[in-house]
Amino acid sequence: MKNLNETDDPIAAPPPVLPEVELDEPTLEPELEARTNDGAPMRFTCFVTGTDTEIGKTLVSSAILHKLVASGVRACGMKPVAAGAELRDGELHNDDADMLFKAGNVHLPSSITTPYMLREPAAPHIAAALENVTIESAPIIAAFAEIQAASDAVVVEGVGGFRVPFNDNFDSADLAAQLNLPVILVVGMRLGCISHALLTVEAIVARGLVLAGWVANTADPDMSFEQENIEALAQRIPAPLLGRVPRLQTPTAAAAAEFIDLAGLPGWPSTRGKS
Ligand SMILES: Nc1ncnc2c1ncn2[C@@H]1O[C@H](COP(=O)(O)OP(=O)(O)OP(=O)(O)O)[C@@H](O)[C@H]1O
Ligand SMILES: [Mg+2]
Repeated sequence: MKNLNETDDPIAAPPPVLPEVELDEPTLEPELEARTNDGAPMRFTCFVTGTDTEIGKTLVSSAILHKLVASGVRACGMKPVAAGAELRDGELHNDDADMLFKAGNVHLPSSITTPYMLREPAAPHIAAALENVTIESAPIIAAFAEIQAASDAVVVEGVGGFRVPFNDNFDSADLAAQLNLPVILVVGMRLGCISHALLTVEAIVARGLVLAGWVANTADPDMSFEQENIEALAQRIPAPLLGRVPRLQTPTAAAAAEFIDLAGLPGWPSTRGKS
């Protein structure tokens, strides 16, 4: 088939001479927010998963929230299932949920941002069984809808790796699929991470989810050939590398936020014109 720009003339006609125009100076007007098909402002949402437990999902999720807040939007984190909570001031607290809470600027009750706050630091289906609880998707989906109604941006942190069981027929990959959010994969950089990362990417793609990007987080500061490992991953992961977080002396949301850039992602708020 012929390209619309092609002519039958084998010798291409010279391009038309265009009058010289002065290019407009860049203005400081804020860019129009991205819009969905029905004209509503586009929101930023993501599901943050990882190659394993304890590899930096909470750090990266809170860094994303930190950047969202800095760009002036209402941002809320969600840790739908947390295993490992203790009673403080009459309320159950979980470290991940607390860190996400602090990094965001929409402060909802923890019964909404963490519908399943379990005491035992164990695999969630085991921690739930100890409390005679069955982790179901409906309360999580309903809570997510409430958070979304109160926020411009929602960051959902998964649990452990991508396929952590919640009950006999429901796991964290099912939850990601039901929420149908773009996934950000945190790769904990340490020996063995390449296979973990590629298997996780396969599982994300197999569920028809969008892999929005991945973040390399230094899980093992003594890893040899970290750069070569990142290059091997970049060649094989069909999504952009959104940042490399080194081992931080003080691993705060603000410190990690310096090393990630999500500006190109759909729904990411425009920061032009804002300080
Ligand atoms: N780049 C880093 N520099 C310094 N410390 C880090 C870094 N990444 C993670 N950590 C630390 O490692 C620990 C685990 O990180 P984090 O809690 O973010 O992992 P996770 O994947 O969310 O774990 P979980 O599966 O329990 O949710 C935390 O104490 C965190 O502060
Ligand atoms: Mg965590």
